[in-house]
This record gives sequence, structure tokens and C-alpha cells, in this order.
Amino acid sequence: DDLRRKMIAGNWKMHKTVSEAVALAEDIVMETNGTLNEVVIFPPFTALETVADAIDGKHVGYGAQDLHWEDKGAFTGAVSGAMIADICAEYVLVGHSERRTIFGENEKIVASKIIAAYRNGLKPMLCVGENLAEREAGKTARKINMQLKSALRVISAEDAENLVVAYEPIWAIGSGKAATPEDALEVCTLIREKIGKIFTPDIARKVRILYGGSVNEKNAASFNLSGIDGVLVGGASLKADTFAAIVRSF
Ligand code: G3P
Repeated sequence: DDLRRKMIAGNWKMHKTVSEAVALAEDIVMETNGTLNEVVIFPPFTALETVADAIDGKHVGYGAQDLHWEDKGAFTGAVSGAMIADICAEYVLVGHSERRTIFGENEKIVASKIIAAYRNGLKPMLCVGENLAEREAGKTARKINMQLKSALRVISAEDAENLVVAYEPIWAIGSGKAATPEDALEVCTLIREKIGKIFTPDIARKVRILYGGSVNEKNAASFNLSGIDGVLVGGASLKADTFAAIVRSF
């Protein structure tokens, strides 16, 4: 669908010093030069501004891995959407499963963060996905619908077009066991249908829906299907050559 440019995103998680991050970002710019896909990286906070300066004006976009739901205040350790927007980031991850499971973020917090992202002109990349027990119990659709319902409720139709959703089944993250392209497509399709119901089918056709979970340079091309608009890559985004190979797979 040419309404939707394919997006390849790299979530660096808690990796890379400032100098390592700049070197990786510059290599990614070089090695993905000329791509027609949208390339976005999510460095850690300490490196974000330096990376932003280093790749400013280049074809690679950047974003933050998380944000706080308030714009300022007594929230020790937190970084706000206003601060992230101040360094001209375009995207922010919201509701990554590691934030949900390790840091205890519930649906209410995720929704507040979506609001904070839009309030500051950032485009949220909302992550959703079921765990292994939910998948095995046949509760995948129910879980995804619940997460979407709660997060999309706070988004206006106008803002919805700038939403990116990443389907990341928790059992596939960092496990080396990616979902099959068929399973990934099935859930991505379900996500688009749900967006169509909550907003309109027209809006749903514009929202990018990515797959994430053990994507590497070998399996990436199998996810290049018309209902999957790209991938959100963790481990394999930490090396420029493998990440660039993934970008070329789309
Ligand atoms: O956000 C991307 C991530 O959760 C997937 O991680 O290492 O399985 O590609 P990985």
C-alpha cells in the first residue's frame, strides 16, 4: 500500500555509550544511504542529543525509548516529552513490553504517555503484544484488543494518522524465536481492523503497523508483506551492517 512507507526502526535499549552511539548512528546513515524506507533509531537517553546533532538533516530519524506523562516536575529520574521534543526527536516508544513488565507500566500509564507524546508533538510508537501463556491459551486477540482499546481511546482521529503500532509478541523478544510471518501478519491485520473500528477504515489504512521480536538480517525479508509495514528491531539493530541489511530487505 503506497499510503504507507515501510519503516525500519532500531530500539537500542540499554546499550551504547555516547561515542559508541554516535559511531553506530553515523555508520547506519552511511550504510542505509539511498533507501526509500523510513529509518528510525532509538538510542538511550544519555546519547540521544549527541546522536541528534551528529545525524541532523540526514535521512535517518530518531526518537526516545520512553517518556514521562508529565512535562515537568518532581519526578526524579524521569525525562519528559517536552525535553525530548526540545532536541527535535520525532518519535517515542510507548508501552514497550519491557516497560510494562519490568517497570510495571499499566494501561493507564501507557495511555497517559500517549497523551503526553502528542501534547509535545511527538509521534508515539505504541508497542503491544501477548505473552506465551496468553498465546498458548488462545487469548492473543483478546489481549491485543484490550491494549489497543485502552491506548487508542485517548487519541483524536487527527492524531491517529501519526500513530505507529508495533506488534511485539513478548515470547519473541530477544528469544531468537521470531513469530512466523503468517502469525505476525494475522495479528497486524487484526490491529488494523481494530483501528478501523475505533476510528475509520481510511485512518487505519494510513497507520503503520510493524512487527518486532527476534528480527534479523536472515528473516527480515519474510516480514515484507503488504499488511506489515516494517519492523522494530532490538539486538540486530546494534550493528550497522546487520541493521542496514534489514533495511534493504524491505
Ligand atoms: O523493541 C524491539 C525489541 O523488543 C525486539 O527485540 O532483540 O528480539 O529484536 P529483539
